[in-house]
Amino acid sequence: MPSPARLVVMISGAGSNLLALDDACRRGDLDGQIVGVLSDRPAALGLERARTRGLHAEALPIAAGESRSDHDARLLAAVSKLQPDLVLLAGYMRILDAAFVHALQGRLLNIHPSLLPRYKGLHTHRRALEAGDALHGATVHFVTPDLDGGPPVLQARIKINPGDDESTLAARVQRCEHVIYPTAVQWCTSGRLRYQEGTPMLDGHPLETPVLQDFDL
Ligand code: GAR
Repeated sequence: MPSPARLVVMISGAGSNLLALDDACRRGDLDGQIVGVLSDRPAALGLERARTRGLHAEALPIAAGESRSDHDARLLAAVSKLQPDLVLLAGYMRILDAAFVHALQGRLLNIHPSLLPRYKGLHTHRRALEAGDALHGATVHFVTPDLDGGPPVLQARIKINPGDDESTLAARVQRCEHVIYPTAVQWCTSGRLRYQEGTPMLDGHPLETPVLQDFDL
């Protein structure tokens, strides 16, 4: 991968993971450069935060009457124009179709706020609390057409405290996300982590289970 790696970040919301990735690049902890930020939501706070930092930021909302596949094709064209080495989903809340995912297979990562395979989809913190789980966390994984089902590479695990509610838990999980996402991306940019025929390879060995990092927050 070229140095610095060209990173495109896709967001729908506040963009705190985007900022953490950009901070890591600027600190030199991540050998990458964010060459573009794309959002399906023009009002996403993360777009404004990206622009404040001088990053190229574009909104590509779905147009009236546009099909999901036409929108994803337009999105793929916008992404491809930026010539990314890696595309990072960071709170991108639309489901991407198989054509989009296949075109970027092995170069497309996502961060999800749960210990996958537990709690794919939405409301992960609420579901972990309702289930009475003792542990919760976040997962960085390669994206495949199987929603939140692509191979996980790195997980952050925290304890659920007795007084936790959805927002305290979400805040602690996010603090972990801001550490593990740049770490996993750096593994890719340095060549330590590769995607080979559906299997993540870390340091030349197939990663059967994700690397697990415990956080005491
Ligand atoms: C993050 O917690 C991320 O894990 C989650 O959205 C949040 C975005 O926050 N992603 C998903 O739920 C994807 N299914 P941010 O915009 O502040 O980075």
